Amino acid sequence: MSRQCLFLGSNWKMNKTVSEAVTYISELLDLLSRGPDLGSTRVFVIPPFTAIQAVKALAGGKIWVGAQNMHWAESGAYTGEISPPMLQELGVDLVELGHAERRQHFNETDTAVNLKVISALHYNLRPLICVGESQEDKEYVVEKETVGRQLRISLRDVPPGRSGNIIIAYEPFWAIGHDRMTADVDHIRMMSQHIRAVLEDLFGNAGGSIPVIYGGDVNGSNALRILIDGGVDGLFVGRAAWEAPAFASLIQACIEVARNSA
Ligand code: PGA
Repeated sequence: MSRQCLFLGSNWKMNKTVSEAVTYISELLDLLSRGPDLGSTRVFVIPPFTAIQAVKALAGGKIWVGAQNMHWAESGAYTGEISPPMLQELGVDLVELGHAERRQHFNETDTAVNLKVISALHYNLRPLICVGESQEDKEYVVEKETVGRQLRISLRDVPPGRSGNIIIAYEPFWAIGHDRMTADVDHIRMMSQHIRAVLEDLFGNAGGSIPVIYGGDVNGSNALRILIDGGVDGLFVGRAAWEAPAFASLIQACIEVARNSA
């Protein structure tokens, strides 16, 4: 398990008001300051748009702060959408694109994700691109095809020199959320290897250094196993990180494991 940087992040989804976000970040920063040095660990949170500014101000560069989505256009008649320059002005460190819930509830397609990826890179925003197969894909054993297709479409026309700014989150749809199954670590390893192979095919050697992180029911009891044996560069946590003490202990446990196996 040797990796350049360990990514540990949480998508808050449609949770936390500004004041709840401020309380959470203050507590998280306090807990992290009492634990081991973050070193090359990159901790990030992805609040709702409304809380980005307050969280970013508090985070003071110690924690990356992302956005959960964006439109690809610079501006225009797109009621309810947020543009790349708006995020740029907030100084976000990354923008999450193509999350399973965006695909499921808002009909987000791979071609839309591709437009967003190209636009994000154009505006120097770091895209965190989510891919993952459905339960049906898994049953019919076409998960590699599905994820390969998602990657090839989402990454079309990405200039080779810009791939260094991308992060991929592998999140099988069937593992996301409270009523789902937990992915076993062999499946995660198989898929992370496949993702790296597709990225290398697309971008050559540079593709091999694109970070691949895992999300989908990551929690205190499976995080270390996934990190050790899942072949990933980090973890992308939902529910299990929505209380600061739980996220802080998960981060600290992961840092210990990463150090001991470096
Ligand atoms: P979960 O969500 O950890 O609550 O399953 C993961 C995600 O949607 O990224």
